[in-house]
Amino acid sequence: MQINSFEEYQETYKLSVEQPEQFWAGIADKFLWRKKWDKVLSWNFSEPNIKWFEGARLNITENCLDRHLAENGDKPAIIWEPNDPQKDSITLSYKILHEQVCRFANVLKKNGVKKGDRVCIYMPMVPELAVAVLACARIGAVHSVVFGGFSAKSIADRINDAECKVVITADGAFRGNKQIQLKEVIDDALIGCPTVERVIVLTHTRTPVSMLKGRDIWWEDEIKLVDTNCPAEEMDAEDLLFILYTSGSTGKPKGVVHTIGGYMVYAGYTFSNVFNYQKDEVFFCTADIGWITGHSYIVYGPLSQGATTLMFEGIPTYPDASRMWQVVEKHKVNILYTAPTAIRSLMSFGLEPLNGIDMSSLRVLGSVGEPINEEAWHWFDENIGKSKCPIVDTWWQTETGGIMISPIAYVTPTKPSFATLPLPGIQPILVDENGKEIEGNGVNGNLCIKFPWPGMLRTTYGDHERCKLTYFSTYENLYFTGDGCLRDEDGYYRITGRVDDVINVSGHRIGTAEVENAINMHAGVVESAVVGFPHEVKGQGIYAFVIFPNHHEDADLTRKDILQTVTRVIGAIAKPDKILFVTGLPKTRSGKIMRRILRKIAEGDIANLGDITTLLDPAVVEEIIEKSQK
Ligand code: PRX
Repeated sequence: MQINSFEEYQETYKLSVEQPEQFWAGIADKFLWRKKWDKVLSWNFSEPNIKWFEGARLNITENCLDRHLAENGDKPAIIWEPNDPQKDSITLSYKILHEQVCRFANVLKKNGVKKGDRVCIYMPMVPELAVAVLACARIGAVHSVVFGGFSAKSIADRINDAECKVVITADGAFRGNKQIQLKEVIDDALIGCPTVERVIVLTHTRTPVSMLKGRDIWWEDEIKLVDTNCPAEEMDAEDLLFILYTSGSTGKPKGVVHTIGGYMVYAGYTFSNVFNYQKDEVFFCTADIGWITGHSYIVYGPLSQGATTLMFEGIPTYPDASRMWQVVEKHKVNILYTAPTAIRSLMSFGLEPLNGIDMSSLRVLGSVGEPINEEAWHWFDENIGKSKCPIVDTWWQTETGGIMISPIAYVTPTKPSFATLPLPGIQPILVDENGKEIEGNGVNGNLCIKFPWPGMLRTTYGDHERCKLTYFSTYENLYFTGDGCLRDEDGYYRITGRVDDVINVSGHRIGTAEVENAINMHAGVVESAVVGFPHEVKGQGIYAFVIFPNHHEDADLTRKDILQTVTRVIGAIAKPDKILFVTGLPKTRSGKIMRRILRKIAEGDIANLGDITTLLDPAVVEEIIEKSQK
């Protein structure tokens, strides 16, 4: 399944485009199916209706666990490194992980979870999180993991949207020197969640929590009541595996739906190839399982390939800026997959934190989540990779399920800040505003994909029309990514950033409308407009222009009140970096806010505001510019 030379890549790519079904069937053959498919692919992008490996039967956990037991049962599946470096790390072999997953799957069953039921998981980065995810998959329940940084309201919205029956959480989470009271957040969320019947609580931080009779139960008690025998539920390839909520240009986050067969094949194939994973290597993806990167490249991709995956509970700068490198040294990490934000943040501490740390085990470096600037790329290459580890700059999205455009380590010649070339099976195309293909090289356009791949989303949960509108309606017969892209003279792709109203803060997607809705919930706010602006560490920051007539008593306090409101409504990750109080917003005569102008002001590029004559009241712009420069 692994590609070993550039020529082989070119041949494979050609085959994958000319005979996609034959190509993907060949890859899928390397996985374990209870019954093979009747048809590899049926599709149209107009409804959209996409089916891969129709008729096939399987359970993804048999691919991630059972099939490795005979030969690799004692091999480490998960290595867990705790937040506190003084505490012991934990290693779970495939055998132990299999046992724990089966046991916890029985807990879920005992608590009434059935095939197709939705389960919300809100947990710290501990091995039990992976166990919970896999236990759902074992019995055919659909998991919806929510990142630990979201607020009670965000969780409630997600739980209600998916009508989750059970929530799995913990008392709390450690993050650097902070503790997050997860159970407390869940308690607040559940006030408005009528579908939830059970909350399973893992003990982790040992902080006091409220336990409601008839609803809340302890993980530790429950696992004593069941055994480890849990045959995997036989699933259809197109049954739902998980829902993962992500932000778009409209206010409400959408539940991206991935199905079992195609996602498994795609996550496994891309993991094995892009990172050139070799037997017995340690793979360290620094993402949280609350995001797609964690789903595909901490859990499903690596485990489906029998790899050793490292899970890190903490943050790169705790207790100090050498922590991530220490983790690499301690566990002899071979492949390190991280985000430009982390690299830029660690870069700012200089080279001192690297002193005396042996990272010679490293063989491949990876980047994901946002464009990586050349400076960060070179720093990573020279200081971490010692100029001998290929950097794979992987472009993909929650919706794509796995890596789409990326170098293949030791195969594709890299170029700083370029995601380089499409992986086999991926057919990117650049289009102009009208959807007309922009051919040739040395061109810029909107990035679309013109042919299905197994890992792509199938729908948005409970609202198929929304899936169609968001991804398949902008341009006919194309999947629209929302990203702008350059294809250079060599045909190499460089993602230039979102072209819609989505901001990418530290590699996390945040919708401007979502933040505006949250700000507008503050009692004194009349209206607001949110745009992104370049931020040295986060890539993009959040800039909010707010109409708040009576703030003058103490503007700073009001700003803090607004931040608090956003934290309550969405979570701390959506807090604006800058809030500017204004008396009006630039609007067209039809009442539409002209974000283009606000974006320019936020970037400090006021010389290039463009045409403002179509504005209802051009004087507003003068005021905003003046205030922004104070
Ligand atoms: O804008 C692109 C950016 O992140 C978006 C997807 O965000 P999300 O669904 O949260 O998934 C992030 C992890 C896969 C994309 O639309 N993005 C992701 N990877 C890159 C990137 N931008 C530039 N270069 C990348 N390597």
